[in-house]
Amino acid sequence: MSIQWTDELLIGVSEIDSQHKELFSRFARLFTACGEGKGKEEVLRLLLFLQEYVKEHFAAEERLQMRHAYPDYAVHKGEHTRFMSDVERLANEFKAEGATLSLVIMTNKTLASWLLQHIKRTDMAFATYLRTQGAV
Ligand SMILES: [Fe+2]
Repeated sequence: MSIQWTDELLIGVSEIDSQHKELFSRFARLFTACGEGKGKEEVLRLLLFLQEYVKEHFAAEERLQMRHAYPDYAVHKGEHTRFMSDVERLANEFKAEGATLSLVIMTNKTLASWLLQHIKRTDMAFATYLRTQGAV
């Protein structure tokens, strides 16, 4: 599945928005590689990238939530933790079995659709909160 960036996904905090765009472009890279029959080479690169980058990105969001006393902080952070453990699980699967087709599909489908849904629902709810606080 390919995920397409649209400006409807902007939450209004430029640091977070540019990180989201970067994540989308990385997934697009995997999707393109899959189309060229090079998904297996690209999948490890994406997983390694996500392990580092997403940690920073989630931390940035969570800092912002703490700073603004976001009431749904714990739930939101819980979603982040689940995503990180999915990335971890897929990276371990890669170590154990190499880039199987199912790993490529799971990475593409599960992680990409998680990201899209998370931004649409969970990050957007936070964005709405920031607006009600007059913070953005
Ligand atoms: Fe988030």
